[in-house]
Amino acid sequence: MFIGQIGYYNGKCPNRTDVEEIVKNSVSAQFGGDATIVPALLRLQFHDCFVRGCDASILLDGNNTEKTASPNLTVRGYDVIDKAKSDVEEKCPGVVSCADIIIMAAREAVVLGGGSFYNVTTGRRDGLISNASEAVDLLPPAEIPVGDSIALFENLGLNVSDMVTLIGAHTVGVAHCSSFQDRLYNYNNTGMADPTMNHLLLNSLKGTCPQNSTNDNMANLDQNSLSANTVDNSFFIEIQENEGVLGIDQEIDLDTRTNATVKILANNNSVFLTQFAAALVKLGAVNVLLDPMGEIRTSCRSINGSPSPPPPPGHP
Ligand code: HEM
Repeated sequence: MFIGQIGYYNGKCPNRTDVEEIVKNSVSAQFGGDATIVPALLRLQFHDCFVRGCDASILLDGNNTEKTASPNLTVRGYDVIDKAKSDVEEKCPGVVSCADIIIMAAREAVVLGGGSFYNVTTGRRDGLISNASEAVDLLPPAEIPVGDSIALFENLGLNVSDMVTLIGAHTVGVAHCSSFQDRLYNYNNTGMADPTMNHLLLNSLKGTCPQNSTNDNMANLDQNSLSANTVDNSFFIEIQENEGVLGIDQEIDLDTRTNATVKILANNNSVFLTQFAAALVKLGAVNVLLDPMGEIRTSCRSINGSPSPPPPPGHP
């Protein structure tokens, strides 16, 4: 289990620099230009932590790195992290990991999106390895069965209630038609729509995503248009009305292993906000690299020194 510290960077930078404050200011300035960085940063934490732990392996550029894998092709926010990293490096060079910046930036995203502030522990180090095939194996597809999803999360120390709560991140952001097209036209190869989808939602999504269209349009994951960009419990209220957009979103309300948690979270926004913060902290503790493992990257997009592996012994 991760044993980082709250305020790990206190006293580690020149001139009493407050690293968390720099990240906060950087992210909130960028939010001013684009409010959709809130979902981008939340998803980035999830996709980083699920593959090799929270080690910033998703940020590495290169052939066949995680970010080139199909589940990551719509992941956004790399530029937001780059800017936060360069703002931090300016005041405190070589000290703060990209892995921690992802976690701090996701916390700011929650706050900017209307969620609760929570303390984050820091002290993570950056990983040296990033493989596309691991991202393909470990990141869940939209139609993952609930049982498989439970197993996937449990493998990483996250229980059923953590899983349901974390999927509540779908209270913000969008999905592309390709992520739910089957539910509209060919659910489980039946040639029909998913019978569990609310009919008004079905018609509206068919309008957004015409069959055989080559445009991969987008729909809000939270179908309450008043709070589609707000971190709140409305996603859970919507899925109880059969208004889940992704297969997994609807299934967690329909499955007896998960629907009790859905009910609790749908009933009380402040319970959701508290549990969501706690679940993100838990997600942020998955397989963390601590000193002396890993490194502190200079640029979040490449490992320090030569990004290519050393030549085999005997070769110049
Ligand atoms: C079984 C679990 C999950 C599955 C199957 C899943 C799947 C997906 C899919 C398919 C999309 C849409 C991608 C697209 O079409 O562009 C998406 C979006 C998103 N996911 Fe998840 N997800 C899961 C859990 C999570 C968790 C745990 C988080 C964060 C804690 C998260 C945060 C997000 C966010 C914020 C978006 C919107 C991104 C944007 O607007 O750019 N998801 N997810």
